[in-house]
Amino acid sequence: MAQKMDAFSAALMADKREIIFAPTVYKFDTFAAMAEEFKLNERDVVLTNEFIYTPFMKDLGLKCQYVFQEKFGAGEPSEEMIQVMYDAIPYDSYDRVIAVGGGAIMDLCKLLGCKRPDTVHNLYFKRFPVQHEKDVIAIPTTCGTGSECTNISVAIVKDEKDGVLTGGETKLGLVSDDIIPNKVCLIPDLIKTLPYKPFACSAIDALVHATESFLSPHRKTMTSELFSEKAMDVILKGFKLIDEKGQDARFEYLDEFVTASFYAGIAFLKAGCGPVHGMSFPLGGTYHVAHGESNYMLFGAILDYYDEKNPDGEIMRFKELVARILGCEAKDAIPTLNALLQRILPLRPLRDCGFTEADFKAFPLSVEANQQRLMTNAYYPFDLEAEEAIYRKCF
Ligand SMILES: NC(=O)c1ccc[n+]([C@@H]2O[C@H](COP(=O)([O-])OP(=O)(O)OC[C@H]3O[C@@H](n4cnc5c(N)ncnc54)[C@H](O)[C@@H]3O)[C@@H](O)[C@H]2O)c1
Ligand SMILES: [Fe+2]
Repeated sequence: MAQKMDAFSAALMADKREIIFAPTVYKFDTFAAMAEEFKLNERDVVLTNEFIYTPFMKDLGLKCQYVFQEKFGAGEPSEEMIQVMYDAIPYDSYDRVIAVGGGAIMDLCKLLGCKRPDTVHNLYFKRFPVQHEKDVIAIPTTCGTGSECTNISVAIVKDEKDGVLTGGETKLGLVSDDIIPNKVCLIPDLIKTLPYKPFACSAIDALVHATESFLSPHRKTMTSELFSEKAMDVILKGFKLIDEKGQDARFEYLDEFVTASFYAGIAFLKAGCGPVHGMSFPLGGTYHVAHGESNYMLFGAILDYYDEKNPDGEIMRFKELVARILGCEAKDAIPTLNALLQRILPLRPLRDCGFTEADFKAFPLSVEANQQRLMTNAYYPFDLEAEEAIYRKCF
């Protein structure tokens, strides 16, 4: 099976950089320590959620402008939400952007750091240039996306095929090194308030980043592999801890989880994510399943597909690594991993989120049209039939 290659994917593969480590990275014990270091002031816009502001920022009495994401609508960024945000935060009202939240807030803040586009739709369909203009400080409050260090901003957009709106929606990543945040601050304290389910979804997302980067056939490098391996090691040890001691055990391991998700972000910034993300994007776009969970729904089936098609390639090294951490034999690594994840978070089938019979054909077509950057990173190639078979297996 040959994977057809679009010009953008080809350009990513031609990138000769060994690793892209763009932001300056800090670790702080508290938000207050970060605010002191960066002298937050009235020309800073802090995009966050009210439920993060209240426990961590309210009492500090800082002069910066706080804006709450929930004002623009709940859930993952969409074309409409981004436009409402642009209207609510006048471009000349700030010099610096502080993102304190999950991947959605990170991705929104990357846009606030850039020149305002004519329309959000044109920006995501590359008809308006991405141009960095204001510094962004990214502070994650989930432990998954790695968005604090990546060059991607993901949004739910009106789907297009050959330049024509299809009437549906999908998720699309806007990719440009111009949107990599300038500074990253890791503050594990901020993850304390994250409830268990979004915590688990985001940690699984980070594990998927590390895995897809590790298995990325063309774009991974020795250095990206180092970050993938370390991220997998730390996250899987954390999952073992939770499996043995219960959900609250995560509180003693938050520093490790937030650091590992950052490592996984560094890994996939160079090596790229793959079909787990590519095939989950229409799921997030159509049925608004949370990013980490939509990846999780497909992850096990895609690993099984790889292992069935080419068990002795790079996936053997992945299985050996997982087996070492989980204490099983390499041949049992993927089922043992899937069983562990099932105990961390019970897996929902696709039918649970509204997936219909028509989607078995429509989703692969949307993936082929819009997710080539991710599908070309497959460890073993996909075609429409293979994609349909995965969706059917997860149904
Ligand atoms: N740019 C990238 O490189 C990249 C990579 C992966 C995912 N993404 C995007 O990131 C988003 C997913 O990010 P996510 O998994 O962090 O989810 P999220 O940002 O949607 O957050 C998940 C939920 O947890 C809440 N939350 C976040 N931090 C909290 C805290 N400390 N306490 C209490 N509640 C908290 C949020 O308000 C939200 O309801 C998606 O939009 C996805 O497309 C971007
Ligand atoms: Fe992800």
